[in-house]
Amino acid sequence: MSETVERVAIIGGTGVSDLPGLITERQVVDTPYGPVAVLVAQTERYPVVFLNRHGLNREHPPHRINYRGNLAALRMLGVTRVLATYAVGSINRALPPGSLIVIDDYLDFTSGRSATFFDGGDTGHAYTEMSTPCCPALRARLLALATQADLPLHPSGVYVCTNGPRFETPAEIRMYAQLGADVVGMTGMPEVTLARELGIHYAAVAYSINWAAGIEDQIQIVRDGIPELLRRLLRLMLETVQADDLSPCRCADALMMVTPSREGGGRYRL
Ligand code: HPA
Repeated sequence: MSETVERVAIIGGTGVSDLPGLITERQVVDTPYGPVAVLVAQTERYPVVFLNRHGLNREHPPHRINYRGNLAALRMLGVTRVLATYAVGSINRALPPGSLIVIDDYLDFTSGRSATFFDGGDTGHAYTEMSTPCCPALRARLLALATQADLPLHPSGVYVCTNGPRFETPAEIRMYAQLGADVVGMTGMPEVTLARELGIHYAAVAYSINWAAGIEDQIQIVRDGIPELLRRLLRLMLETVQADDLSPCRCADALMMVTPSREGGGRYRL
């Protein structure tokens, strides 16, 4: 990555910036999709923006999250790299609750979400290349630093995104398993796509808090040990997202067949 890094970001749920000693300042960004509140911390290298995708007071359920506003706010703040966390249920029996999985592919079963910045009209058309949905350089650095930090991360996994807010039925989970899904969550899509549309480097770690529907009699959310696991993951993410020498990747070049907007930009600009 040779481009200038202005700021980096971590996207997560509640407690996204809960680290002892970390001081953050609240900021509201007025985006074309509405105001988005974030927390910003000044660290030794790049300022880090923390975004709770559900809103600072967890006001948006998964199907009503302002995904476009969230990503637009990060872009407007000059963010070029994002690491995200997802709470998930485990489908793959080799990934019990408590596992951390570096996602490398997605199945999208959401509906009714505003899933693109390219809605025609002034914003033009573009088709996003998704052969490598997550930034390989960020993924590789995460895995390398996790080994040093002795934090076990599964190096790959397919994330199926459901619309929620209900959990899945056992038959749905059997279907997703047949399609190759390892974990299931409700928030990864369209977040990853929107990041790619903006040329932001994006990688995500899923943390499993339950077996998916049908694996046990009833879904049981595991709470023991999860807050400490998330703190360790957050420390690792903070180090990774600020790495100085990431290898080259093609995230900044994911748009294909762009129809220039009326302003002639040829690329969506905020
Ligand atoms: N299904 C969907 N989303 C989830 C789950 C699940 O089992 N667990 C945590 N988020």
